[in-house]
Amino acid sequence: MEMAASSAGMTDGRPRIGVIGAGAVGCYVGGRLAAGAVADVTLVGRQWLADAVVDHGMTLRELDHDDFVAAKDIRFGVDMQALSSCDVVLCCVKSGDTANTAAQLAGILRPGAIVVSLQNGLRNGDTLRVHLPQNPVVDAIVDFNVIMRDHAVFQRTTSGPLTVETKSEPQHQVWVDALRAAGLEVVEVDAIEAEQWTKLLVNLNNAINALAGVPTREMILCRPYRSVVAMLLDEGLDVLEEAGVRTAKFRGVPLRVMSFILKLPTPIVRLVIAAQLRMDPEARTSMAQDLERRRLTEVDFLNGEIVSLAESNSRDAPLNRRIVELIHEAERAGEGSPNLDAKALLQGIRPQHAPAVTDG
Ligand SMILES: NC(=O)c1ccc[n+]([C@@H]2O[C@H](COP(=O)([O-])OP(=O)(O)OC[C@H]3O[C@@H](n4cnc5c(N)ncnc54)[C@H](OP(=O)(O)O)[C@@H]3O)[C@@H](O)[C@H]2O)c1
Repeated sequence: MEMAASSAGMTDGRPRIGVIGAGAVGCYVGGRLAAGAVADVTLVGRQWLADAVVDHGMTLRELDHDDFVAAKDIRFGVDMQALSSCDVVLCCVKSGDTANTAAQLAGILRPGAIVVSLQNGLRNGDTLRVHLPQNPVVDAIVDFNVIMRDHAVFQRTTSGPLTVETKSEPQHQVWVDALRAAGLEVVEVDAIEAEQWTKLLVNLNNAINALAGVPTREMILCRPYRSVVAMLLDEGLDVLEEAGVRTAKFRGVPLRVMSFILKLPTPIVRLVIAAQLRMDPEARTSMAQDLERRRLTEVDFLNGEIVSLAESNSRDAPLNRRIVELIHEAERAGEGSPNLDAKALLQGIRPQHAPAVTDG
C-alpha cells in the first residue's frame, strides 16, 4: 500500500515505520507501535498471515495475558513496494533470508531511510549494508521471546528489552522514541557487537529447545538439559576467549557465572530465574517454532558461528558442530522436533564421554 509522503518525512507528525518479514517479532513490535498510535505502521509479510489479520484482526498478548487488538486498520501487505515511503524499516526476516530480502529492498527503499536489523546473529547488519549502500543500517537485539499463535495472535512470553546501537543523529532518536512511546523498553549501547555475541551465546540453548521439543521453561528446569546447554556455552566462551572476542554481561550476569548457575541444582536455578526473568510456561524459542513449522532454522547463524570462529583459529568446537548436524538432520527429516530427551542428547553430542547427570 502506498502512503503519501510529507515534506517533513512524517505522517501526522508520526514517523512512517515499516516492517519487512512480519512474523512473530515483526508483528509484535509493529503491532505495539500501531496500537500506541505513535507511528504510521506498514507490515509486509506472507499472504496466509495477511489473510489471518483480515479475518481476525491482530491480537497482541502480553506476559500477563492481557490481550489487546493492535489496530483494526493495521496495514499488512505482501508487496514490498508498500515500504517505499517509510522513514524507518525494521528488518525481521530470518537470517537466511536477509541477503535475498535486502537485494529486493534495494530498488524500493528511498535513499536515507533507516534500516534496523531486529534479528539474531552477527551478520545481518553487514549483509543489509552491502545491499543497501544508500540506507543507514542499525543493529538491534530483541531480548525477549514472542510466539505466533493461530488467528494472528502474537504472544510475548518473556521479559526483556530491545537493545539498540547508540546513534548521535537526531533522525535515529525519532524511531527509538516511538518504540519507547509504544511502551517498549529500549536500551541504547555503544558496543552492540559485544551484546550480539552475548545474545548468540545465550541463544545456543535454542537448538536444545528445538531438539527437546519441550517449552523453554521446562528445559531450563531440567538439570540434564541444562548441563547440555552449559557444555555448549562453555565451549562457545572458550572459542571466543581464544579469538579475543569480547562479550557483555547478560542481564548483569557474566556468562561464566551463568554457566556456573546452569550446573547448580534445580531449586537454586528456579530462584535465580525468578529474580532475573519472567517467562510464560509456554515460551518456546524461535528455532523450536521453525522445526515445528518444518522450516529451515537459524542454527548456522548461531551454533554455526562458534564452529566457524573455532575453525578460523585452527581449532574445533565439536559440541556445537554436532548440534548443528543434529538440527540439520531434523530439518531434513521434516517431522518437527525429534523430541530428544537429555540422555539421548548427551549421547548424540558426546557418545564417548557423556557425563552422568542427576535430575535434581
Ligand atoms: N521469535 C522470537 O521470539 C525472537 C526473539 C528474538 C529475536 N528473534 C529473531 O528475529 C528474527 C525474526 O524471527 P521471527 O521469530 O519473528 O521469525 P518469523 O516468525 O519466521 O517471521 C519472519 C517472517 O518473514 C517472512 N519473510 C521472509 N522473507 C520475506 C520477504 N522477502 N518478504 C516478506 N516476508 C518475508 C517469513 O515467511 P516464510 O516463513 O514464508 O519465509 C516469516 O513469516 C530472527 O532473526 C530471530 O532469530 C526472534
